[in-house]
Amino acid sequence: MEKRNTFSGKIGFVLAAAGSAVGLGNLWRFPYLAAKYGGGIFLLVYLILAVTFGFVLMVTEIAIGRKTRLSPLAAFGALSSKWNWLGKLATFVPVLIFPYYCLIGGWVTKYTAAMLTESAAAAADSYFGSYVSATGEPLVWFAVFLAITMLVVVFGVNKGIEKLSKVLMPLLLIITVALSVYIVSRPGSAPGVRYYLMPDFGNLSFKTVLAALGQLFYSMSLAMGIMITYGSYLSKEEKIEKSARQIEIFDTVIALLAGLMIIPAVFEFSGGDKEALSSGPSLMFETLPKVFNSMPAGKTVGTLFFFLVLFAALTSSVSILEAIVSGLIDSFKMKRLTATALVSAYGLALGTVCSLGFGIWSDFTIIGMSILDFLDFVSNSIFLPLVGMLTCVLVGFVIKPDAVISEVELNGPFRMKHFYIAMVRWIAPVLIFAILVSGILQSLGILKI
Ligand code: TRP
Repeated sequence: MEKRNTFSGKIGFVLAAAGSAVGLGNLWRFPYLAAKYGGGIFLLVYLILAVTFGFVLMVTEIAIGRKTRLSPLAAFGALSSKWNWLGKLATFVPVLIFPYYCLIGGWVTKYTAAMLTESAAAAADSYFGSYVSATGEPLVWFAVFLAITMLVVVFGVNKGIEKLSKVLMPLLLIITVALSVYIVSRPGSAPGVRYYLMPDFGNLSFKTVLAALGQLFYSMSLAMGIMITYGSYLSKEEKIEKSARQIEIFDTVIALLAGLMIIPAVFEFSGGDKEALSSGPSLMFETLPKVFNSMPAGKTVGTLFFFLVLFAALTSSVSILEAIVSGLIDSFKMKRLTATALVSAYGLALGTVCSLGFGIWSDFTIIGMSILDFLDFVSNSIFLPLVGMLTCVLVGFVIKPDAVISEVELNGPFRMKHFYIAMVRWIAPVLIFAILVSGILQSLGILKI
């Protein structure tokens, strides 16, 4: 009896953490980054970073959470009183992500409705462009998505949404597998599959590595205090090393399949055109409707697909808002309703600016990026690596790796112990620093490699 309880608890933790981690990052962001940053080479870099940096940070955050039993705002301070600010910095990242996450969530909501009512029209070339550049409609869908997120958080994240995600996450996996099998087996898919799976070292740049690193942190909800929060709820009986690996595998498999589904399809429809491949955020919205439109029962599959993306996005947006709201409640003793309303109003304002950045304000760019792209770049390519690096420095030199190792070893040996020490002390902070600096210089056009 007892064994069984422990087992289901472990799966519960992994599924809950994976449910929060699996979201737009996997289904929307990963495929467009992989397409833009050289296909196979991006994939290779991502995988290497996942099993090294990703693993080390995942273990570290879960262990810090379980050791301190505190939310990130207080956890860093409890480890070392001089490092309290790092908790604040980590909590700030979701603040940057929340507005544009909900805007994309609004796009997904719109597409779910479009698949139901006008799936053929949604496959037209200009459909997405004219939708995002409009002034009113995207804002309405954005407000709908934000309102649902807000409602769930006001009423508290109950068991219901967690239970639902246990059913829908496997379903999402099944649909993703089925669709990628379908795409790969199409006659014209070979060049796209090759582009996605075969690394071409000519496409390697610091920007690629920086993008992959930012994506890794973003997708696994690392370096923003989320995994610390989850760790704080984890029972001492569960094995951190194994849980960390399972969350990583789940998240990575979904991302890889999403890429396998989208990139060959883009390749086929565009004939490998560089411009189509680097279209960025619009990739999922422009190409997939075409694929659905050309397949048997496409309307049903398309509707189901966007519904599931919507659900994955919603479980993630709820946890992003919850992370900010619980921070405000803890630090300023705010009421839940006040805090939720405040953050939602802020999200609505900044998200509106992002949305108009595709329409009436499209002339306004920051270092060549649209407002949404810029926010995404600052949060993922700058803040996440920065917080990740500082976490490594804190563990490596201030509280010492043993503080984390002893927590991991509470139940059984830490198999990757020596690797962990070397990574957290030297390799990870030094390399993250190098990638961060060169990536920023390159994005600003100062460094050309
Ligand atoms: N990891 C989520 C995804 O892949 C996105 C995300 C970013 C997130 N920050 C978060 C989820 C904070 C929950 C909490 O889409």
